[in-house]
Amino acid sequence: RKKVTLETLNSLKNNKAHITMITAYDFPSATACSSNPLVDIVLVGDSLAQVCLGYPSTTQLTLSEMIHHCRAVARGTTHPLLVADMPFGTYMTSGPDTIQNAVRLIQEGRVEGIKMEGGLEIVETVRKLTDFGIPVMGHVGLKPQRHVASSGFRIQGKNTNSAKQVIKEAEALQDAGAFSIILEGIPKELGRCITERLKIPTIGIGAGPATDGQVLVWDDIMGTWSGHKAKFVRHFGDVKSERDAAIQKYVEAVRNGSFPAESESYTSGGVDWSSLSV
Ligand code: KIV
Ligand code: NA
Repeated sequence: RKKVTLETLNSLKNNKAHITMITAYDFPSATACSSNPLVDIVLVGDSLAQVCLGYPSTTQLTLSEMIHHCRAVARGTTHPLLVADMPFGTYMTSGPDTIQNAVRLIQEGRVEGIKMEGGLEIVETVRKLTDFGIPVMGHVGLKPQRHVASSGFRIQGKNTNSAKQVIKEAEALQDAGAFSIILEGIPKELGRCITERLKIPTIGIGAGPATDGQVLVWDDIMGTWSGHKAKFVRHFGDVKSERDAAIQKYVEAVRNGSFPAESESYTSGGVDWSSLSV
């Protein structure tokens, strides 16, 4: 498939073709996403913190850790557009430090665009980055990097005031030059409303079926994550059972001596080394 560009995403929205986005964190997951021509966007999400690195929250993830994983994902990515999350704390001003952090993700991490959680407080930053030609994806609604400040992972936009706030943020990010926007954890009616109001593609996660695309975390798709399962998560595979069964069969075969078999062993042609003096 031809390389996915920002123009491709716009035409997918205009043709009402659903955009597909998956997170990846390493070379094998990136290669798997690239082997399916229908995957449009690969995201090195900061969910990396929990699902890959075992941190309790995305707020612990550093820029260097993110870059390390981006490089591996980039080596396995072909046609999908490659986007990475700016980690918590790396985009708190619209000044040179934030721009430098975004540039590091592109030059060292080898990603093509960056994603940032936030609303009006990041508009200036988004404008600055997009002015310099760095593609920015927004992320509004439930913003996981704020889970402590929000006293948990709360669905947003459930009442009129909160819904208006999410719409205002999405529109401001579009005006600032964002090429697309993630809508997380909002009622499906609000997901539809924002998708209809915006010219840029919306990608939903827990935002109902009417967004221009959907994104899910790799481990949620595979069914390998044993932590909390949100309402919006569907396991499309049961890789966990396969994986655990493979470990079980391996340890049994080692313990009962059936692994390795003759056919899995090298041979010197039956020479007896037992009396060999070295
Ligand atoms: O970090 C992540 O995986 C994300 C997506 C789920 C949107 O931000
Ligand atoms: Na994220």
